[in-house]
Amino acid sequence: MNKNIIIGSDHAGYSLKTKIIEYLCEIGYEPKDMGTNNELSCDYPLIAQKSCTEVIKTNGLGILICGTGVGMSIAANKIKGIRAAVVSESLSAKYSKLHNNTNVLCIGARIIGEETAKDIIKTWMDTSFEGERHQARVNMLE
Ligand code: RB5
Repeated sequence: MNKNIIIGSDHAGYSLKTKIIEYLCEIGYEPKDMGTNNELSCDYPLIAQKSCTEVIKTNGLGILICGTGVGMSIAANKIKGIRAAVVSESLSAKYSKLHNNTNVLCIGARIIGEETAKDIIKTWMDTSFEGERHQARVNMLE
């Protein structure tokens, strides 16, 4: 299993990101933090671009956190090879991997709490793409 995970946030997601980094370490992952590093206002498209470039380069997984998760998901999906979904509960997180082979998970720090975020992330990390009939559909996305 690839233990590397890329993580990034803007100012709105910074506080939740620090807790998620701790959690990822606790459950055996090695998160690579792509910023931001404080709560000063910054631009989520730049963090998304930097983080997603790293996801593609390492053929890994990424987690992006902003206020709603929406801006990060729009920005992430502009990058070739990225399949990002913003989710607020674990069933969508599970199916986003099973059927859509998402490689980036987006979370809204102003939408969900820390425990829900952890539940979503654990579910997503523990789920694998089902392939088969879904592979052809995912290929169409490219
Ligand atoms: C920042 O205020 C906010 O717009 C941003 O974090 C995000 O929610 C954008 O989608």
